[in-house]
Amino acid sequence: MSGDHDKDLSGLRLGTASPATMTTDEAAAELASLAEAIAFHDQRYHGDDAPVVTDADYDALVARNGELEAVFPALVRSDSPSLRVGTPAADGFGKIRHARPMLSLNNGFTDEDIIDFGTRIRRFLSLGEDDELAFTAEPKIDGLSLSLRYEKGRLTQAATRGDGTEGEDVTANVRGVSAIPATLAGSPPDILEVRGELYMDRRDFIALNAAQKQADGKIFANPRNAAAGSLRQKDASVTASRNLQFFAYALGEVSTPLASTHADSLAALKSFGFSVNELSTRCTDSDALLAHYAKIGSQRADLGYDIDGVVYKVDRHDYQERLGQVARAPRWALAHKFPAEQAETVLNAIDIQVGRTGALTPVARLAPVTVGGVVVSNATLHNEDEIRRKDIRVGDRVVIQRAGDVIPQVVRVLTEMRQPDSAEFVFPDSCPECHAPAIRPEGEAVRRCTNALDCPAQRLEWLKHFVSRDAFDIEGLGARQIDQFVTLGWVSRPADIFRLAARRDDMVGLDGYGDISINNLLAAIEARRSIGFERVIFALGIRQIGQATARLLALHYETPDALMAATAPDADQDTSAAELVEIDQIGDSMVADFMGFFTREGNRDAVSDLFAQISIIPPERPADDSPVSGKTIVFTGTLTGMSRAEAKARAEGLGAKVSGSVSAKTNFLVAGADAGSKARKAAALGVTVLSEEEWLTMIGGN
Ligand code: IVH
Repeated sequence: MSGDHDKDLSGLRLGTASPATMTTDEAAAELASLAEAIAFHDQRYHGDDAPVVTDADYDALVARNGELEAVFPALVRSDSPSLRVGTPAADGFGKIRHARPMLSLNNGFTDEDIIDFGTRIRRFLSLGEDDELAFTAEPKIDGLSLSLRYEKGRLTQAATRGDGTEGEDVTANVRGVSAIPATLAGSPPDILEVRGELYMDRRDFIALNAAQKQADGKIFANPRNAAAGSLRQKDASVTASRNLQFFAYALGEVSTPLASTHADSLAALKSFGFSVNELSTRCTDSDALLAHYAKIGSQRADLGYDIDGVVYKVDRHDYQERLGQVARAPRWALAHKFPAEQAETVLNAIDIQVGRTGALTPVARLAPVTVGGVVVSNATLHNEDEIRRKDIRVGDRVVIQRAGDVIPQVVRVLTEMRQPDSAEFVFPDSCPECHAPAIRPEGEAVRRCTNALDCPAQRLEWLKHFVSRDAFDIEGLGARQIDQFVTLGWVSRPADIFRLAARRDDMVGLDGYGDISINNLLAAIEARRSIGFERVIFALGIRQIGQATARLLALHYETPDALMAATAPDADQDTSAAELVEIDQIGDSMVADFMGFFTREGNRDAVSDLFAQISIIPPERPADDSPVSGKTIVFTGTLTGMSRAEAKARAEGLGAKVSGSVSAKTNFLVAGADAGSKARKAAALGVTVLSEEEWLTMIGGN
């Protein structure tokens, strides 16, 4: 079971199955675990400056998330890591809203990823074979990003990235960093926002830790954490005393453009007094990018500062503009990461964890080993096929790897060192917690306990989900308290949480509870008696029903009574299900899970009990601010102004849904030159057909 103590296992479900072969159920379940794991590591990395996994591991999680979302776009969760950057600004510093969002970067790992990146961009921009497409390739500095605002050449504000929209105000501390100019040389534009990486040289990091040790101060795990910790000081003079460095590599708001290319912008920044990285090079094809990657990789150890890859950026700013961004990352840039670090250790045991939806997940317990500066003692084994495929056995010596900030994985077994008496691992066919049969449906990778909420492990995880951040989010009531209250028998279903006030006297005797904390907890629970419908539906923890789907369901049903009526055993369930499938982005298997949840008597009971305890706020409908928002658009024929991908991206950016085929649900067909059967079908269905020009006028993009 996963409790708070082993929360670093929260993302252990990093799958290896090819998304194309996965069921929607599996993908949804994996995306849910990924969201949880990535949020956990984001907090460790950005919030606490204390990562528990390597960057390479983290990147693997993010990459896996992207891979699944690409194949299952309907499953993109509203809490998806792809829609979010970093963590919210920490308390203690004021907040600054970035004039332009601070983006993150998509990652590539293989040569093929890099070649694809170039091909995708060429296609997006509809470039001909002879059109030049230049990139810059520069080291990816392992520090923390800052946005520095200069007005009339003077530093007025400095902010961390935060969640990408809002960061921490670190102006006072940054003023003490001598590597960051307080006033600019030359003639910079009136408003100039410079983005770059604050970092610490390895030599200074080692010296700082030695001094910290002497003074019994905090020891930093790596230069990145040392830089972040040095910046986030209450006392600005401490920051000033640390030798922090800064490389400028991008722009935010600028009143007058510096140049028409990234390379020239960097040169301008240099002339204003910033350090820009000397290894930044202009390349005109992927061979040159890969050669530069290899060159930087070979110099990595001698650079004096940590880098974790090479960043490729489209050089022309007008191209960058057109390429825009997807979710949290620009389409025009890619981080080519260095490979994961590996280590050998012994696999002592394989434990099976049971999740909220009954999934049995194998976890490798390892003899602790240091990989990339972090001690690893657990690794994911994904599922039973993975164990069989790699023939992983208890007692084996294994190679593990941490790539990015993700959960460690077992790469392979050193079979030549295997003990002669080792036995193949037998995956249990019953739940290790409640002993009910654990079934693996045909074609699925995951085996599940069949006991639903009668399984104590599933119930416990279900309750933890109920109080989690995106669900009821009750302050002072987290996984640890749920563990405690379940053990005491005070809580066995969600409604019990709202009856905890009756336990007030018993609580007084509990470890860690004083009058004030009890009052706070009970007040926080009271405050959640009134809550939005979509949160409630999400909190029910139904398989495949993530935040985005919960919202769609809340909009559909509007009231809890309507939901209960439509899912009642005596209701016409086929009609109710058919209505749900009609909702865009809700598929058959989601509906089956949703209806299935309510057909179990125990679940219905628990939900009715909960509904009686709380007051549900109906969902707000989104305002339509663009004429195409919420509309379904189909593009056909050849567009002259832009590629299909660019047209699609713009429409989606305005809240439209772009579909590949015309149906009665289509609102507009945008017909380019030589539009064929789709245009005829649209005409037959009475769908409005727009020319490319008419469409551009409509979206105000002419
Ligand atoms: S460009 C819009 N260039 O990597 C693009 N980022 O993983 C903004 N980073 O948030 C980023 N070196 O903190 C860029 N040469 C470089 C970089 C770099 C390090 C960091 C930066 C960014 C993160 C994304």
